[in-house]
Amino acid sequence: MIQGVDSNKQGLVKKIYDAEQDHIFRYWDELDPTQRNNLLTQLEEVDFDLLTTLNSDLIHGSKKNGLAGNLEPAEFIKLPKTQDEEVRFEKAKTAGEEALRAGRVAAFLVAGGQGSRLGFDGAKGKFPISPVKNKTLFQLHAEKILASSKKYGVTIPWYIMTSLLNHAETETFFKENDFFGLNSSDVVFFTQAMIPALDPDGKLVMDARDNIFRNPNGHGGSLAALKTSGALDDMKRRGIDLISYFQVDNVLIKICDPVFIGFHVLQEAEMSAKIVVKTDPAEKVGVVGFMDGELGVIEYSDLSEADETARNGDGSLKFQAGSIAIHIFNAEFVERETDGGLNLPWHLAHKKIPYLNENGELVNPESPNAYKFETFVFDALGHAKSTVILEVDRREEFSPVKNAEGSDSPDTARKDMVAQYKRWLQHAGHDLTKGGNHAKLEISPLFANDPDELQEKLSGDKNLGDYWG
Ligand code: UD1
Repeated sequence: MIQGVDSNKQGLVKKIYDAEQDHIFRYWDELDPTQRNNLLTQLEEVDFDLLTTLNSDLIHGSKKNGLAGNLEPAEFIKLPKTQDEEVRFEKAKTAGEEALRAGRVAAFLVAGGQGSRLGFDGAKGKFPISPVKNKTLFQLHAEKILASSKKYGVTIPWYIMTSLLNHAETETFFKENDFFGLNSSDVVFFTQAMIPALDPDGKLVMDARDNIFRNPNGHGGSLAALKTSGALDDMKRRGIDLISYFQVDNVLIKICDPVFIGFHVLQEAEMSAKIVVKTDPAEKVGVVGFMDGELGVIEYSDLSEADETARNGDGSLKFQAGSIAIHIFNAEFVERETDGGLNLPWHLAHKKIPYLNENGELVNPESPNAYKFETFVFDALGHAKSTVILEVDRREEFSPVKNAEGSDSPDTARKDMVAQYKRWLQHAGHDLTKGGNHAKLEISPLFANDPDELQEKLSGDKNLGDYWG
């Protein structure tokens, strides 16, 4: 056993030896008191029993190869085509607007991920993206929330989940920017939990002499974090029972969409999901479907080529309900889901994880060397007593910034934003086909947050010159 440990930490040390993870004390004698404390504090948060189970079930056990069993597509509410369907959507919108006006809705952003594919050094929300003003993702989201708050005459509080990887820089960014016009007391930050990675022998990975490698526990961790951070209690105090969930990367996100909220409320759903119809089998979105009878999202990486390309009689894809990671949760559902901890399955990812070699040198491996564990929020869909799955128009609601180049990149996102603004202007009666190349058009959410608002703002005003950015 190692020396120089306070008596109140002896139990922890024993637990680590019992779990056969004592290699993490290899440099103990070289560490100063602060470093020793760092290491022990991290270890105090580790659930060793959980890691033992994950090692035997996921790394070495039968669940290693991900999905098995019977997959079936899910039904969804399609975009309205007939007049009756239009009426149904209008009714939903009215119900959603009522819920918003009654102050029942909060916005909830998950922003604890690393965004490593984008290659941006910093929290992804700080990425400058708007075509003219170069507003960041965070600013665009903030302005949409502010616009909806004004429209419905209520405060829409915004809960933002970060992780240890980006919490401090996210909070600082909001402070430096005066919360983009929002009231600072209505923007609530909290962090999700972290979980250590394991090597193929089930051992913790050290990436410094006083540090074990940990990653955020996946966006599924957001449900438990809502509870443990006190955010759910804060919502209760504010009279909020509907949580409008979104990801940081979607520039076209309609935050607190009344149509979606309305369908959710009218159908007494507990958790709902928005989808776009997938037409390209290779598109990298998960699809909403049933796995052995349980509703959830089947990740694109888990869908076999045969399922990915399977078609219905009319030529549409069999698995076409592409998840765009936009949900509504009832606060009460989150309360139930997190009763007794995080009740979601764990997923395994084989990754390149930096580690200390036998000589104590840091190595950045060139191929996957260890396993990360994550939970996914959409696995909660199957636990909801009732669910709405709603199709939306991709051009109006989904353009994520994921990759540095190519599809789902800053370039495609900016193009999609400009195309949306042009459609809105056309809707407002402005013909953009004449004169000028409006490649760099931008409409602030604070000026108009939807096509009807724009039409109203511009009514009678045929000279757009004043507005060009
Ligand atoms: C995700 C979905 C995919 C969906 C697509 C739509 C997963 C596994 N897949 O893919 O089904 O079609 O979005 O754009 O989610 N995050 C956290 N904490 C974490 C991990 C992630 O807050 O521990 C946040 C990220 O900050 C981000 C969001 O979750 O806002 C999405 O994470 P990401 O890993 O980028 O998911 P995708 O692979 O893009």
